[in-house]
Formats: sequence, C-alpha cells, structure tokens
Amino acid sequence: MFLCPFSGFCLLISCALYVAAVAPAGSWDAFNYAPRSRTVFPVQVVDSVGDVEVTVEDATNSMTLASQGSYIALDFLKEVGGLLSFTVDTASENTSLALSFSESPLFISPHQSDDSCNPSPLMNSDGAQILFLPAPSGKVMQTIAQQRGGFRYLTIATTSGDPVSISDVQVNITFMPHWDDLRAYSGYFLTEDPIFEDPDFLTKLWYSGAYTVQTNTIGPNQARSCPDTGGWNNSANAGPVSGPVLVDGAKRDRTVWPGDMGISTDTQRVSTNDLLPTRNSLTVMFSTQDPSTGSLQYSGPPINAHGSDTYISWSLIGAYNYFLHTGDLEFIRTIWTNYTYALDFLQSQVDNTGLMNVPSGFANDWGREGGQGHNSAANALLYRSLITAADLASELGDSSLSAAYLANASAVKSAFNELLWDSSAAMFRDNEITSLHPQDGNSLAVLYNITANASQNVAISEGLTSFWTPIGPLSPELSDTIIPFVGGLEVRAHFVAGQGERALNLLRQEWGYMLYTNISVQSTLLEGYTANGSLGYRGATGYNFDHAFTSHSHGWSTGPTSALTFFVLGLTLTGPQGSSWSVAPVLSGLQSAEGGFETSLGWFGVKWNVSSTNDFTLVIEAPLGTVGTVRPPSSADFTVDGESVSSTSMSDGHPAFRLEGGIHTLIQSL
Ligand SMILES: *[C@@H]1O[C@H](CO)[C@@H](O)[C@H](O)[C@H]1NC(C)=O
Ligand SMILES: *[C@@H]1O[C@H](CO)[C@@H](O)[C@H](O)[C@H]1NC(C)=O
Ligand SMILES: *[C@@H]1O[C@H](CO)[C@@H](O)[C@H](O)[C@H]1NC(C)=O
Ligand SMILES: *[C@@H]1O[C@H](CO)[C@@H](O)[C@H](O)[C@H]1NC(C)=O
Ligand SMILES: *[C@@H]1O[C@H](CO)[C@@H](O)[C@H](O)[C@H]1NC(C)=O
Ligand SMILES: *[C@@H]1O[C@H](CO)[C@@H](O)[C@H](O)[C@H]1NC(C)=O
Ligand SMILES: *[C@@H]1O[C@H](CO)[C@@H](O)[C@H](O)[C@H]1NC(C)=O
Ligand SMILES: *[C@@H]1O[C@H](CO)[C@@H](O)[C@H](O)[C@H]1NC(C)=O
Ligand SMILES: *[C@@H]1O[C@H](CO)[C@@H](O)[C@H](O)[C@H]1NC(C)=O
Ligand SMILES: *[C@@H]1O[C@H](CO)[C@@H](O)[C@H](O)[C@H]1NC(C)=O
Repeated sequence: MFLCPFSGFCLLISCALYVAAVAPAGSWDAFNYAPRSRTVFPVQVVDSVGDVEVTVEDATNSMTLASQGSYIALDFLKEVGGLLSFTVDTASENTSLALSFSESPLFISPHQSDDSCNPSPLMNSDGAQILFLPAPSGKVMQTIAQQRGGFRYLTIATTSGDPVSISDVQVNITFMPHWDDLRAYSGYFLTEDPIFEDPDFLTKLWYSGAYTVQTNTIGPNQARSCPDTGGWNNSANAGPVSGPVLVDGAKRDRTVWPGDMGISTDTQRVSTNDLLPTRNSLTVMFSTQDPSTGSLQYSGPPINAHGSDTYISWSLIGAYNYFLHTGDLEFIRTIWTNYTYALDFLQSQVDNTGLMNVPSGFANDWGREGGQGHNSAANALLYRSLITAADLASELGDSSLSAAYLANASAVKSAFNELLWDSSAAMFRDNEITSLHPQDGNSLAVLYNITANASQNVAISEGLTSFWTPIGPLSPELSDTIIPFVGGLEVRAHFVAGQGERALNLLRQEWGYMLYTNISVQSTLLEGYTANGSLGYRGATGYNFDHAFTSHSHGWSTGPTSALTFFVLGLTLTGPQGSSWSVAPVLSGLQSAEGGFETSLGWFGVKWNVSSTNDFTLVIEAPLGTVGTVRPPSSADFTVDGESVSSTSMSDGHPAFRLEGGIHTLIQSL
C-alpha cells in the first residue's frame, strides 16, 4: 500500500515508518473524505453565464462557451488540489481560457481566484490564470508551478467571443505524493453524538482533520512562491529534503511552520501513521539554524521568517512528538547538537524572575498581540521543551543532562505559578504587568502540566468558558478572532481537567461551525474566522482585510482528531512507538466510541460502550510485548478478562492498573 521511494532512507532505518497495515474496515470508512482515485472530476455545475452548454456526469464532462464573457463554475464538492487538465475539442487560433479557483463559494468569479499569494483589500492578488489553447484541438495540462494547492470551485471563462469546446476536465491530486491509496488510513474513529443535530458529527470531524492534514502534505518542490507579476507559482523549494513535507495549508502558505505541526503531527500519528513528512519538515527547521546564536527560524523556505521563541519551542517539542511515535532515535542523534543549541538559546532569555523574558524581536507566534516579556504561552512552551528534552537526553543515555533539564523545568514551573497565577481570577495572566488572562497561555498551562495542582486545572477550564460564543471562543489575545489552533489546545486542556462534556461542547460550537458553514468547503478545516463567523480572520493584523486570503484547509485546526483519539478513546503512547501506553477514556456524555491507530510495533485499539443498565465495557488491544496503564472511568470495582483486579489508586482517587499487551476486556458498573 505504501510506496517507499527513498531507498537510502529505508535502508537506514529498515523502513520502520512503512509498516503496511490498514485500520480494520467498517462503517467509519464512509466518513473518509480522501478520494478513491488521485484523479478527480467536477461533480456539479454551480453557475453558468452567457451562451454555454455544459454536461457534468461522474467521470465525464464537456462544455462549450460561445459568447464573450461566458463562464461556467464547477464544484468538486470538497477540497482538492493539484494539476488541472482538459481536452480541447474545438478552438480557433489564439484562443485562451481564464481559470479561477476558490475554496469558499463566496469568491467564485470569472476574473479572480481567491488569494494565495498576497493579502489585498481588493481581494485580487491572484487573479485568473490564462491558459492558451491548442487550435483546433488538443490537450491542456497545468504545470507544477501553475497548479492550485487547494480549492473546491473552478471557474472557466472565455477571454474572447470565439466558441470553445472542452471536455475531460480533471484534477490530478498532488498532495500525499508518496502514497498510492489516499484512503489507506492506519487509524480510525467512530462514535455517535447524542447532542449535535448530526449524530455523525464527531466521526466526520475526526476524518475532516485527517484529510486536512493530507492536503497539507506536499512534494518538497511544490511550495508556494509569489511572482512579482501577480498570480501564483507552486513550484518553490520547501527546504533541503528530497521527500514530502508537512506544511501549514493546502492553498497557502505551503511552507513549513513548526507551530502548526504542534497540532498536525498528532493528526498524522492517529490517522495515517505517516510521519515521514514531519521528519522532513523538522529537518528543514533544524537545518536552517542560525550558527551564531542557535536560534531556529519561525518558518521554512521560501518564506524563511525569523524571530519566534514559541516556534523554536514547537520545533523542539515536535522532535519529541516524532520520536515518541516512531522511536527513531537515529534522527534525534542527527539533530541533537542543533537541538540543544536551540534550547540554550531559549534558556539564555531566562532572567532573574526564573521566566524567559521574550524580546520583542522574538515575539512572533500564531498571531496574537503582547507576546513579548514574561509571556505565559512562551514560558509554558519552554517548560514543555525542557520536560521533553529531559526525556530525549535520557533516551540518548545522558542522565546528567536530563536531570539538569528537569531541574530547570521545575524552576520555570515555580516561577510561572509565582509570577503569573492570579488567584482572584483563578487563571494565569498573560504576563505580570497585564490583567489579560489568555486563551493560549491558560490552555497550554493545563495541557503541559505547568499548573501546581489539579484544582487549578478545573478552575482554568471553567475560566476559559468566559470567552465562549456560539461559534467558538473569542480569543482575548487578538481582537475579533476565533483561532482554531488555540481552540485545539483548549479542547485538550478541558479533557486534561476531566471536563469531557465541556470539551465536546467546544467541538460542537467551534468545529460545528467550521465543518458545516456554507461559506467554507465542508470537508477540510478553516484557518480562522471572526466573531460574526466571517472569513476576515486577522483582517486588521496582517491579512489586509482580504477575506479571500484565509485558508480553508489548515492543519493547525485539526486538534479534535487527535483529541478524540487521545481522550475519548483515551489512548496515548507513553513510551517510544508504544512500548508503553495508557488507556484512560473520558466518557464525555457519549454511549460508545471505538478506534485506534498503529505504530511500527502494531495495532493499538480501544472500543468502549455503556449499556442501558450502566455497565461499562472496554476492550483494549495492544501489541504483545508492550505494557500499559489502564484507568477505568470510575472508582467502582471492575473485572478484567472476567477476574477482579487489584489496582493501585492514583493521586486523584481513581484506580489504575498495569496491563500487558494482547486483547483484554474490562467491565465496570458505573
Ligand atoms: C494569432 O497570433 C499571431 C501572433 O500574435 C498572429 O500573427 C496571428 O494573426 C493570430 N491569428 C489569428 C487567427 O488571430
Ligand atoms: C492525470 O492522471 C491520469 C491517470 O493517471 C493520467 O493519464 C494523466 O496524464 C494525468 N494528467 C496530468 C496532468 O498529470
Ligand atoms: C516558479 O518558481 C520557481 C522557484 O522559485 C522558479 O524556479 C520558476 O522559474 C518559477 N516558474 C515560473 C513559471 O515563474
Ligand atoms: C545544524 O545547523 C547548521 C547551521 O548552524 C546546519 O548547517 C546543519 O545542517 C544543521 N544540522 C542539521 C542536522 O540539521
Ligand atoms: C539551566 O538554566 C541555567 C540558567 O538559565 C542555564 O545557565 C543552564 O545552562 C541550564 N541548564 C541546561 C542543562 O540547559
Ligand atoms: C505534573 O507535574 C508534577 C511535578 O510538578 C508531577 O509530579 C506530575 O506527575 C505531573 N503530572 C503528569 C500527568 O505528568
Ligand atoms: C493550587 O495551586 C495554587 C497556585 O499555586 C494555590 O493558590 C492553591 O492554593 C493550590 N490549591 C490546592 C488545593 O493545593
Ligand atoms: C448559505 O446558506 C444561507 C442560509 O440558507 C443562504 O442564505 C446563503 O445564500 C448560502 N450561501 C451560500 C454561499 O451558499
Ligand atoms: C463581520 O465581521 C467582519 C470583520 O470584522 C466585517 O468586515 C463584516 O462586515 C461583519 N459582517 C456582518 C454581517 O456584520
Ligand atoms: C459493548 O461492547 C461489547 C464488547 O465489544 C459488546 O459485546 C456489547 O454488545 C456492546 N454493548 C452495547 C450496548 O453496545
């Protein structure tokens, strides 16, 4: 099922990333958005103007545009991206067609594509692509540079009054270039939502996130560049690697951004087990280190942005996440000198308060204001970097370095609580000189366990709801902004705080809006939006009020995919490749859930349900030779494989016990 085209790489690590296994088939497959074939066709006509004839049927289509200004708008029904081609049946000499592409139906136009290169208040930076036609007939194919990375709608317009007939309009998908079958997921998820009007919502959302990240996985020579002359060019180099890279979005920026990977790598882990693009993207970030300071870039080529402490942390944390899933210690060895140098760079900013004092030149992040100083999000990320660095150092056998990182982490944690905890609000402040309690810093604090005790987690989870609106939290860090990247961190924070029903309510509001709104693509996930649901995300802060610039397939918005696996199934890895694991389902008001994922050690699966008489049944499957910790949902007695089990009590009073790999059934009366 996998193509393994990088034989040097495969020899080196025995193709460990490419275990040919697919998740079990089941009713969940109906929710997989990935197309069956890499060649896709328009499915319906949404608009036609002027003297036109058009037929669109399954895999065949044909159309004639016969008058000046006539056009046809076609709908692929979901986000796609790649090389457009068609057959010219009749055309006169020197005729051309104008093609324009859009993710949102709001920007269907014969003159303009939505914007992928430059945000412009007139929403006209990309324009239409003019393709000259062979006369009297022949084939037209876009080049890699001409391809559109992400769109749902294609508009074809005549540029003259000469009649033109074309057929076989199709798109050859270019994302996931190293995969044969785009639907061959190695993970799955299924549940039924008893509250949302569409009971399949949570399952669809899981698959929507997975497909979004697939559309963000591109060949290394298919990054976006922006010609001075207008239009777009998707044949730029994304960095010094020869295989696929994981980038931020399908339409834009088609560039490596390590913060986005803080979410999208986890989506790969639970859905496709395809971590090669993450590895390549990390290689891009570590290879562009500044040799004189140790700082890493904010983004990869061709953008090559600088100046972000938080994104340096995301590169470090990303290396750990990659290692945890793959066990590829060889990769960590390769980057270790650069990795530790980058961590030194961050720590050199720790001042006598015990926290990093972010200089304004390094305050770039996911798009917020006030990131400089003793910023809470930046310091929570530093804490997580140190904790995960300690783990990697001990994997590499350097126990004294590991202990030193842990000691520094612990100092950051004390200072964080000392300086930033606001007991009257029961939340962390953004820094010690503001009264703002941020969505990002508070979510990260709970998620990364920088809180001193569990009651803080509960209080923060409650406090975060003060930002909620019916379509998602309005971030206090940036006006008029709903940002699903931070929302994805918040969802996890609610689960960590034991507030599963609240976490699912956040999904219903924020992702319930994104997945169903008819101003988006109803398949992949939006980069962000405003308080009234408009696409004018960051209009006043970088995007020039260009609503057409917003990406509709952004991996950083896919937090729910891994959150549903990690918390509703409750399945997480605690040791490399899943040599050790944990199962701790948060029932969240659901009646049942099932799913799982694989690593190179094999399949990890969880199925649970609650019967009408309130009996909880949990079936766990994990590879032989691995060992896990299981935490049943309540403190009542339970049996495993028909026998009562003596369990140890966790700090919060819940039982937990150790279980070897294999297939096991736990039953508990709730
Ligand atoms: C096509 O364009 C060429 C070059 O501009 C011109 O010489 C020729 O006359 C044009 N043919 C027609 C049919 O317009
Ligand atoms: C698209 O894929 C089809 C089927 O594999 C192939 O015949 C065709 O040449 C491809 N077109 C382009 C533009 O690559
Ligand atoms: C597209 O960009 C690439 C990389 O920047 C460049 O080499 C190439 O010439 C450009 N192609 C076009 C058609 O402008
Ligand atoms: C480490 O950084 C240097 C630049 O400082 C770069 O030349 C080198 O390729 C990087 N090493 C790795 C493994 O990325
Ligand atoms: C721990 O922090 C101190 C002070 O910031 C720093 O000098 C030291 O290098 C750090 N230790 C390690 C192992 O990074
Ligand atoms: C959270 O951090 C504390 C140390 O500050 C540690 O004892 C505890 O085990 C951590 N909890 C988790 C879930 O990692
Ligand atoms: C939890 O930690 C906060 C911050 O340090 C402290 O104010 C609070 O008293 C602690 N609560 C408990 C129950 O220990
Ligand atoms: C979206 O749905 C609303 C309400 O049904 C409708 O008024 C609007 O025209 C639709 N918009 C698009 C772009 O389809
Ligand atoms: C929604 O908000 C955007 C951005 O703030 C604004 O441009 C637009 O006018 C608003 N739309 C409505 C219908 O109020
Ligand atoms: C719950 O799961 C068990 C084990 O998979 C199964 O035998 C049982 O029929 C399920 N019960 C319900 C109510 O779905």
